[in-house]
Amino acid sequence: MIIDHATIVTPCGHSACKGDAMSRLTTIKDGCVIVRDGLIEYVGPRADAQDLMAEYKKDKSDISFIDAEGRALLPGFVDSHTHLIFGGFRPDEFEWRLKGDTYMSIMQRGGGIQSTVNATRATSEDELVNRAQWFLDRMSSMGVTTVEAKSGYGLDAETEEKMLRAIRRLADKDGQPIRIVSTFLGAHAVPKEYAGHTDEYVDLIIKEMLPRFREMADCCDIFCEKNVFEIEESRRLLKAAKDMGYKLKLHADEIVQLGGAELAAELGALSADHLLHVSDAGVEAMAKAGVVATLLPLTAFTLKEPYAPARKFIDAGAAVALATDLNPGSCFSGSIPLSIALACIYMKMSIEETITALTLNGAAAIGRADEIGSIEKGKRADFVMLNTDNINILPYYVGMNCVKTTIFGGRVVCENP
Ligand code: NIG
Ligand code: FE
Repeated sequence: MIIDHATIVTPCGHSACKGDAMSRLTTIKDGCVIVRDGLIEYVGPRADAQDLMAEYKKDKSDISFIDAEGRALLPGFVDSHTHLIFGGFRPDEFEWRLKGDTYMSIMQRGGGIQSTVNATRATSEDELVNRAQWFLDRMSSMGVTTVEAKSGYGLDAETEEKMLRAIRRLADKDGQPIRIVSTFLGAHAVPKEYAGHTDEYVDLIIKEMLPRFREMADCCDIFCEKNVFEIEESRRLLKAAKDMGYKLKLHADEIVQLGGAELAAELGALSADHLLHVSDAGVEAMAKAGVVATLLPLTAFTLKEPYAPARKFIDAGAAVALATDLNPGSCFSGSIPLSIALACIYMKMSIEETITALTLNGAAAIGRADEIGSIEKGKRADFVMLNTDNINILPYYVGMNCVKTTIFGGRVVCENP
């Protein structure tokens, strides 16, 4: 594949960009990208690529060629935090919250996550796969080329495994337009069978589930929250997961300030996510330990909570990623365009920072920055081509999709009209 006459805009590197570096994007006007076997072979000014292009055209008769006509070409977006496998929906809870109910009070009454657990246990694996594919196709049209998918609506070994199998089937599916990375989130809530016996449920996860799912999930996540899994329970579970070779992620300081950010730093997690109520010490600790702060503006928006302090993180020299948190409860949205607009308008991130956050830093948040997240020689050929040369369109056209073409592994997977 050759993409010619593109305005290439990309962060650079094989690890997360931190602090000021988040706003330093490389821009190549009248650029060109040459792809061989799904990998980027050349990226740079088209003027310097004439010989290589001629050579490439000679030994490839079925060459696919895109004239970008000056449009912006970015790395494919990485949505590094989603719960896209689930049974049922929870529109009634949304209405209760509109009337003043809170997310946690609904959960404590046995609704919330437990309600989706009941529905997911009753849904077949085939059905879970089909439902998730619907979301994946929509994500692809918004430029997402890699997505993280969590389990966590089973809360028993059998259903957690069903979810992880569904994720694997989706990942391996022929023609799938998105790379899928899986995370085991058995500690998403204490299931009703273990109500009041959190330690016993943590034991079950450590003894039975973590070893059983080691080959099925890259990362292990936990909802570290007051009245869910408190700090000591989270530390015990995550340490066991780390010892077994899982990479760690945490839902941290989402509803109250509990110290999840500090725990993520202590354990060397890949990321701590949400962080709406993070302490200043937590921000500093994460910056120092190199833990990616994955911020989820759509969740704050939906729960009517204050936005996470993106500026504090960036100014402290931390790496920020943005993701959607798509799930049936706290945030039933997978909108990349709205995430970008909210991050710019309310979290005071610059447009350049949001691009880094959705590409290279998202890749780092799932441990894949060596392979994806930037347009550089040797990386996977995952791109998003906007419908204009100007990246400012991303937040400016609020909540609207500005993606013209999504390219995954050197293959056009979505062409928007
Ligand atoms: O990231 N807070 C924990 N987990 C999800 C919500 C899951 C749900 O409500 O179904 C979140 O907000
Ligand atoms: Fe989440």
